[in-house]
Amino acid sequence: MEWKRTHNCSELTTENTGDEVVLKGWVDTRRDLGGVIFIDLRDRYGITQIVFYETDENLHQLAEQLRREYVIAIKGIVEERGEENINDEVSTGRIEIRVEDLKIYSEAETTPFEIKEGIGTSEELRLKYRYLDLRRPDVQENLVLRSDFYKSTRDYYHENDFLEVETPVLMKSTPEGARDYLVPSRVNPGKFFALPQSPQTYKQLLMVSGFDRYFQIVKCFRDEDLRADRQPEFTQIDVEMSFVDEEDVMASTEGLMKKLMKDTVDEDIEAPFERLTYEEAIKTYGTDKPDTRFGLEFADFSDHVKDSEFKIFSNTVEKGGAVLGITVPGQGDMGRGAIDRLTERVKQETGAAGLIYIKLNEEDGVKCSVEKFLTEETVDAMVETADAEMGDLVLILAGPSPDVYEQMGKLRLMMGKEHDLIDQDAYNFLWVTDFPLVEYSKEDHRYHALHHPFTAPHPDDLDKLDDEPEEVRSRAYDLVLNGYEIGGGSIRIHNRELQTRMFGLLGIDQEEAQKRFGFLLDAFKYGAPPHGGIALGVDRIVMILAGGISLRDVIAFPKNQKAQSLMDNSPDYVDQEQLDELHIELKKDINKLDE
Ligand code: AMO
Repeated sequence: MEWKRTHNCSELTTENTGDEVVLKGWVDTRRDLGGVIFIDLRDRYGITQIVFYETDENLHQLAEQLRREYVIAIKGIVEERGEENINDEVSTGRIEIRVEDLKIYSEAETTPFEIKEGIGTSEELRLKYRYLDLRRPDVQENLVLRSDFYKSTRDYYHENDFLEVETPVLMKSTPEGARDYLVPSRVNPGKFFALPQSPQTYKQLLMVSGFDRYFQIVKCFRDEDLRADRQPEFTQIDVEMSFVDEEDVMASTEGLMKKLMKDTVDEDIEAPFERLTYEEAIKTYGTDKPDTRFGLEFADFSDHVKDSEFKIFSNTVEKGGAVLGITVPGQGDMGRGAIDRLTERVKQETGAAGLIYIKLNEEDGVKCSVEKFLTEETVDAMVETADAEMGDLVLILAGPSPDVYEQMGKLRLMMGKEHDLIDQDAYNFLWVTDFPLVEYSKEDHRYHALHHPFTAPHPDDLDKLDDEPEEVRSRAYDLVLNGYEIGGGSIRIHNRELQTRMFGLLGIDQEEAQKRFGFLLDAFKYGAPPHGGIALGVDRIVMILAGGISLRDVIAFPKNQKAQSLMDNSPDYVDQEQLDELHIELKKDINKLDE
């Protein structure tokens, strides 16, 4: 007869003393203490200690065969542990089970790494055996958090009258700025679907259909250069609303974040969130996704040094560049060697040409590395603008704009991390608004949409659309948390003429626009409501909440940095027959190196 599991491995307490129970799970550890065998039985809920005594010879012999990761069922009696054996680190630490019967479901070979928290095994090995890695409690906790996250999201949107609608995975290309993953169609020779980079066009069409408030938790696919916070397939909470403006979308998103933070990590966060315009963010932090958990805001010295004899400064300002500083508290006595090493790193990691500094310490007073070229008044003015005090170190970069802002942004982060200036317990949400609509790409010799081509231009800037497009602000907003872009959205264009004009600005002529986006442009002919929305990056948010540093920590079966799944060895070559069916011929020079 099959035994029914009565409890999981974290449930039993002294209240259950004397009960007969059935537990099932994996052998976590095994200790043989001269005849008495202790086993920690593990399932995803926790650990329970089970004990085999010598009195039952058959049972004891069977227990001697048990090894780590065997899957077993036991029937036994809950007993209170003696005072000296209590373990208050686990919920079941005051009881143990005296085993009366044992069933072995599966034996297990020695695993390639130990199943426990905080192991030092290489990530490559862990990804190859991901199903074992997923047995480890810390990884399991992340997936539990992720599941709570989904539930909270769905509850929020359903409570607020949003409709959950699925959109196709096999579709036409969406321009989100990455390359598409393509899927060949067997029944339409030579034709391909693209996997969605996002459901952007579909959600807008749902608004045209009258679905008012839509959301979806949806997989998106982007063939782009991978980083720790980018996966080729990732999950978005995708939202769209009709008859709304920026404030409505932002308020609704803040409501979601408040609920999510409470439900998943029991944090009460304040809303409305802080806001910065794109320009303020760049000028103050050198990035459009600033980590505002610490200060080190930029000071702009350009005005003080524009006429200085120090040519690096004056030439930079003359050519339209900037001279920027940050004040690192308590580092005013940094030694020569340390500063030289820092300078080398700054050059390597930020691309800056060099590093200039002002040290303020009791011994030397105010000491600037290029003081022989600067007047005392200039240095004093810089110190004042930088708000630097005795004991501080002012780090200065000079260079062309906008590069110098980005470089200083990297240096700021480097200093924040190195000198422990970041409050690790804080959750700093921030909206970044007023993005430029387009930016000019020197490589492609054309304008790119900063968000995507469906984002509406700011109505006050419409007259600049043809002659000064880079001056036009968009109605886009990004949500930033602790230095990560966790979401982005906008109020959309809902007018055929304006959308066609926008495509034109991006170098997509009428014919091509009709070919690629005719369905959307046509839809706008038949009554399109004003609408807007947002998409939030689930993987990134869960990663931050889990305290992880890579998206792979919170995805059950992630890809590595080369977009490969090491476990099932995908992507992989396919049979000639399959290629033939798909009407695909591989280039001759493809070398099947690993075959
Ligand atoms: P966007 O391209 O900004 O907007 O994407 C929204 C959010 O998705 C997350 N994200 C990623 N996460 C992991 N790996 C990736 N490769 C990756 N790319 C993006 C980020 C990002 O903020 N259609 C628009 C949304 C809209 O306008 O409504 C869009 O997709 O957290």
